[in-house]
Amino acid sequence: MPALQRSLVLAKPDAVQRGLATEVIRRLEQRGLKIVGLKFMRIDASLARRHYAEHEGKPFFDGLVEYITSAPVIAAVFEGSDAIAAIRTAIGSTNPAEATPGSIRGDLGMERGRNLVHASDSPESGAREVALFFQPSELIDWHRDLDGWIHE
Ligand code: RTP
Ligand code: MG
Repeated sequence: MPALQRSLVLAKPDAVQRGLATEVIRRLEQRGLKIVGLKFMRIDASLARRHYAEHEGKPFFDGLVEYITSAPVIAAVFEGSDAIAAIRTAIGSTNPAEATPGSIRGDLGMERGRNLVHASDSPESGAREVALFFQPSELIDWHRDLDGWIHE
């Protein structure tokens, strides 16, 4: 049975700086995923460390925090059936140089440290990350708020 899942997606600072942030969001929306939350924001160091807590202690951690806090991002929550796997496939491998053409990273990037987009890697990460970035009141319930618009 497909499960309704939520993923936190970030159009990262390099996407914003290159004018590709809405392209990242557009591709996922056009695929059929529903936007249930959206904000343009600057991530501070505390939020960055909590968001990437699983990587604390790794050699690239400090650089990762510095990069994700270096400029604004678009933070979005996308919802859909088996959305986690669908979005991870749509964004492509972590290193854009190895990402499949047709994926966001495979079409738009070349550097692992400038890979345009973040997406939650499991339903548990999705729930944790959405709660870090959004208050419940900032999220749309499609069935409640957009009567008549239903998931496929
Ligand atoms: P993200 O969390 O940003 O969506 O990326 P991801 O799941 O594809 O990759 P992840 O393993 O979670 O790594 C987080 C970010 O850290 C940088 N990274 N650098 N130098 C390295 O070995 C290395 N490994 C990962 C990447 O920018 C990656 O997006
Ligand atoms: Mg990750």
